[in-house]
Order: sequence, then structure tokens, then C-alpha cells
Amino acid sequence: MGYIPVTLEEVLNSTKTEVINRYRTYLNPELASLLSLLGFDKMFVKAQGLKVFDDEGKGYMDFLGGYGTLNLGHNHPEVIQALEKVFDLPNIFQASMGLMAGALAETLAKITPGDLNKTFFCNSGAEAVDGALKLARISTGRKKILYTDNSFHGKTLGALSVTGRKYQDPFRPLVPECYSVPFGDGDTLARELKKGDYAAFIVEPIQGEGGIVVPPEGYLKEAEDLCKKYGTLLIADEIQTGFGRTGKMFAVQHDGVEPDIITMAKSLSGGVIPIGAYIATDDVWSKGYGHRDRCILHTSTFGGNNFACAVGLKTIEILIRDNLSENARDMGNRLHRKLEKIAEEYKLIKEVRGKGLMIGAEFYEPQLVRGLSMEYLAGMVSGLLLQEYHIITAYTLNNPNVIRFEPPLTVGEEEVDYVAESLENICKQQKSFLGVAMDIGKKMLKKRIGFGE
Ligand SMILES: Cc1ncc(COP(=O)(O)O)c(C=O)c1O
Repeated sequence: MGYIPVTLEEVLNSTKTEVINRYRTYLNPELASLLSLLGFDKMFVKAQGLKVFDDEGKGYMDFLGGYGTLNLGHNHPEVIQALEKVFDLPNIFQASMGLMAGALAETLAKITPGDLNKTFFCNSGAEAVDGALKLARISTGRKKILYTDNSFHGKTLGALSVTGRKYQDPFRPLVPECYSVPFGDGDTLARELKKGDYAAFIVEPIQGEGGIVVPPEGYLKEAEDLCKKYGTLLIADEIQTGFGRTGKMFAVQHDGVEPDIITMAKSLSGGVIPIGAYIATDDVWSKGYGHRDRCILHTSTFGGNNFACAVGLKTIEILIRDNLSENARDMGNRLHRKLEKIAEEYKLIKEVRGKGLMIGAEFYEPQLVRGLSMEYLAGMVSGLLLQEYHIITAYTLNNPNVIRFEPPLTVGEEEVDYVAESLENICKQQKSFLGVAMDIGKKMLKKRIGFGE
């Protein structure tokens, strides 16, 4: 015995080397090497709003925003205060009906489109997706689930079964009866749904990890109509697009679409406490669980805890009060326009895509060595933005050649302009920049490190 636990106080005084060593030894050594290679091995010790600060006191602008988790920025003071206000409540107490969960569920029923009314709370996006898939099966009595190629719905076994192939292969066999169709292709969707035996079609209104891909105009509405026609439930995965990110509270609202189920997580609790949820219509929910025998068929120990739900309530209040969807729309349009100009001028960026403050810039793939292209240019640019301009960004998981911009929705013109100017500077110096990219790429080849895998 004789093990002396690491105390919180010690950890708070850790050196950067200690932090890296612990990560390597006790968490994920390969990921640690990858982060170091990209220069993402800084030690961040403070965060507020759009800014994070390293151990040398240098400030950085967070344009990654926790992949859509930090719509209010880091540690929003009112969210932290909300948490302090409820600290005396029992947080987890299954032998009662939680004070906060009902109130947050009521709020969600009011802000979501259509007749969505019944919420299930859990702790992450993937868990929300698993819950939604189960609800679709139990509610319709059907087994088959349809999803889209290149999607991302999470990495638990259920969510993975409806996530694009890239992450699936090492984990087969997955949940059976899950089939995919090309994203944005209404004809193939119609052909599949016509079979009349799908429980649900799950889709992201804008694919996030797939590379910030916006479907063709009218696709989501068509999906809604087809689902209605063939008795399939439409599940909109708004885990990344939700809570103002794309310029509306939920992205399906751009198209007037009313899904049967919406999944959400990430920014729902202001980036402070883990949370996940789905919301469904009364009809769908009661067909599934509206019976005494069935009401505890799907539960989650921490789901609906008072702390997470209290900060959820405060988060939504702030999003609405401060018109953050509108700011996302305006700042997003501004950044989009500027990025398109850069793309036109420097021919390094193939395409700029997205809505509101969910923007992706896809880079061309330069040839690294004959026959092998460099599909990680976005990661390199991201590294340069961090090192030289103190801007935090990242590439999308399924497509490492897309750099994503998802800052807090509180971002202002000055910050948007700074990011665009910095990217332009990098593109201007493209010769030396490509040199750096090649260099890192070759090192990676030597080490056989695969990005995003
Ligand atoms: C659209 C979408 N669905 C589901 C998930 C999974 O969420 P989590 O990582 O909380 O499990 C993500 C995460 O990025 C996502 O973007």
C-alpha cells in the first residue's frame, strides 16, 4: 500500500512537463505526440469568454469553441453564478422529481420547433443519440435505421452504428439494421424510405465533423415529407448546430422543418457541466414509454441532475436575452465573406462552407511525395494560426483538410477581422507555409501518425 494520492492542490501547481507526462502515461500517448507535433501542447491555465491564457500569461482567441460547446464562451460569469446558486440542492437524488429538470424540459419544449414536448436528459451527445435511436425503435416497432454517409453522431456503439464509416471499421459488428445514404441526395433517400420499414432517419442539418457540409436547398424539407409519408421518424441531430450556432436557435428552423425528435448536448449547459438530451413529440414518446411497464426502460444515473439543468436554464436565458443567434448570423456572414475573398485570391482554399458561426474552409491537397497527397493542410494552417497569431482552431474529424471556425457566439467584428487577416497573412506567405507543411507531413509519415483516426 502506501500510495499517496495526487492532491488537487499539487495538480494545480503542476509544471507543463508533469502535465504532458501524465497525459502520456495515464491517458493517450499517441494523441499526446500528435498534439505536440502540431504545437497544441500548451498549458492553458485560465479561460474567460473568447479568451484562454497559457502558463506564461499569453492570451489566445478560441475560434474552436469546444466544437460547438462554448456558444456562451468559457466560464460565462452568469452561468457560474447560476451554478453557485444551486450548490445547496441535492444534485443527484433519484428518489424525487428533480426541481430543475422539469423546468429545463419546459423551456426546451418552448424553444424547439413544432410539437416537441417530452425530454430525456443524459450526459453526452452520443448518449442522446443512442436514446433517440432506441425511442425510434420502441415507438415505431420497426428496427431499421437510416443515416447519411460521412455523418458524425458520436462514438458509443449505438451512435457509432450511424456514424460515417471512418470510425466504424475496427469495431464491427455494430448495431444491426443501420444503413446509410449519401447526404443531400433526396432521390436515394426516397428510394430507401419507400420500403416502409425504417424506424428513423437521423441527420445533421449541417454535417459538422464531415467537414461542415450544408445540404442542398430543400433537402431537409424533402426528408421531413418523405419521413411523414412512409411512417419513419425524422431525428435531427442538433448537437453541434443547436443553440444559436447557425444563426437560428436550431438549424432546422432555417428550413421550417419540424422533426419528430431532436438530439442536443454540447452548449446546452453553457460548456460548464456535461449534458445531453433528446426531445420528442408526445405521440412518439408515449408510443414508446407511455406505460407503467416501460417508463424506466431507458434511464441514466446523472441524467437531469440539478446542477446541469440549472446552468442549462441560465444558458438559454442568456442566448435569448443577448440575441446571440442574430450575432452568430451577422458575425458568421462577415467571416464567411472574408474567407471567400481569401479563397479567391490565394488559391489555397478550395471552398468555404457553413451557416452562421459554423464555418469550414476546405484546403486543396498538395502533393507531398509522388502519389501521396497532403490531406492535412488544414491542420498545418491551424498550427500556424496558433503559434503565430494565438488563434485556436482545428480540423474536422472526418475530413482533416477542413479548418473549422466555431467561436463563441459573443464574438465581435474586431475578432472576426483579426482571424481573417491572420489567415490571409498565412496564405500570402504560402511558399514558406507550404515548406512547413511538407516538413511536418514528412515527419508524420516517418512516425506513421494518422490524423483524426
Ligand atoms: C452532430 C454530433 N452528434 C453527436 C456528437 C457526439 O457528441 P459527444 O461527443 O458529446 O458524445 C457530436 C460531437 O461532436 C456531434 O457533432
